[in-house]
Amino acid sequence: MSVDVVILAAGQGSRMKSALPKVLHAVGGKPMVQHVIDNARSTDDASVHVVIGHGAEKVRAQLDGQDVQFALQAEQLGTGHAVAQAMPGVSADSTVLVLYGDVPLTSAETMQELVSIAEAGDFGLLTVDLQDPTGYGRIVRDDSDNVVAIVEHKDASPEQLAIAEVNTGILAVSASKLNDWLPQLSSENAQGEYYLTDIIAMAAKQGVAIKAIQPETEQEVQGVNNRVQLAELERWFQLRNAEELMVNGATLADPARVDVRGTVTQGNDIWIDVNVVLEGDVHIGSNVRIESNCVIRNSRIGDGTVIKANSLLEDAVVAENCDVGPYARLRPGTELANKAKVGNFVETKKAIIGEGSKVNHLTYVGDANIGKNVNVGAGTITCNYDGVNKSLTEIGDGAFIGSNSSLVAPVKVGAGATVGAGSTITKTVEDDQLAVARGKQTNLSSWQRPVKKS
Ligand code: UD1
Ligand code: CA
Repeated sequence: MSVDVVILAAGQGSRMKSALPKVLHAVGGKPMVQHVIDNARSTDDASVHVVIGHGAEKVRAQLDGQDVQFALQAEQLGTGHAVAQAMPGVSADSTVLVLYGDVPLTSAETMQELVSIAEAGDFGLLTVDLQDPTGYGRIVRDDSDNVVAIVEHKDASPEQLAIAEVNTGILAVSASKLNDWLPQLSSENAQGEYYLTDIIAMAAKQGVAIKAIQPETEQEVQGVNNRVQLAELERWFQLRNAEELMVNGATLADPARVDVRGTVTQGNDIWIDVNVVLEGDVHIGSNVRIESNCVIRNSRIGDGTVIKANSLLEDAVVAENCDVGPYARLRPGTELANKAKVGNFVETKKAIIGEGSKVNHLTYVGDANIGKNVNVGAGTITCNYDGVNKSLTEIGDGAFIGSNSSLVAPVKVGAGATVGAGSTITKTVEDDQLAVARGKQTNLSSWQRPVKKS
């Protein structure tokens, strides 16, 4: 049996006060609608349909290249109308799961549970008890506690308004039943909309069993209508990420001050200080320390390495027992071998830095291949760019680059070579040579300082 997931994402979301369609606002760095799609994908290899309307082109562009079918709902005539727009693309013998692009954190388990109910021939409905049910559709049950209808807030009687059990909107049922019921919806109600919720009464009348299940947490069914709700969900999501880091072996100085915007794999005995952001695919080895205010993006950090405060790593690979920062910037293509050190105010890019090598202070290393046990002095610059092309600097094992040197690429400094401080190196330095390329010092004893004219 196949599963078709229909994600409603046509609404305007005017309360976001944004040029960006609501469902593209991010939780944990990922657009809300993408969370929904990713979780839905784990449900019995589901086909995904997204109903778009407001900001349709932006949503399409964001999801470009993914295996998603779009259904355009040119006018937002209600949730029932929205689902109907997707039905032509849904196979008649399929099970349909209805989800919402602005309800990002529904778990795959909850989705699967609803689908299983529908696959057994019943109607799966996700409901939740709220202390304040204002605005939501109320779940109406008969004397035997069977769900018989959903009444929207604006259509509800005073007795119905007292019901605490509300509709989350999320449901699963067979496509054949939907194809039967959706054309029967009418818009004669308080909002003049085609309510998806009216299919509940149709199902009950036909004797279809409506099985209501509840989510494990309220946040799973929390929709986002404004940026306050977005921030609430973000905090909840991040706290769960922090818990996962801790459960898997990281001590966090403050679980409320680590944000994960991607996927982290990790070892044990990690220590992470406050205000650390982990983005994209990040690996943190065992016994790693990450000090405060670091951003680690798409990078790997080997066992025993210390990333000191205020460092930024991006597409970098740092091996074991390295020392990075404080205030280091490792740009894409940086690879540090074991025990390498990159210190404060050092920027690296496409730089391979060999085992035990040190680049400790105020230096730029770009497009460089540095061997083992090299010492790069303070203020060294690889001049890798001539205004048109980038060129490589190669430094052999054990070389010593004196402070404030410029290495004008393409250039090679051999193994064991020494570059005198303040040199501008433009030609190959052979192994073990000393290169000095700076003006000679002149001392004049006869010198007299100028005196002020009267
Ligand atoms: C809906 C439910 C209500 C439930 C609540 C939960 C209906 C009639 N009511 O009410 O029972 O308690 O959700 O939040 O279903 N959308 C479209 N096209 C449309 C209309 C809506 O794509 O024509 C999308 C919206 O973008 C939104 C979602 O469907 O993401 C829900 O629509 P909304 O109008 O907010 O429904 P509610 O009135 O909140
Ligand atoms: Ca709503």
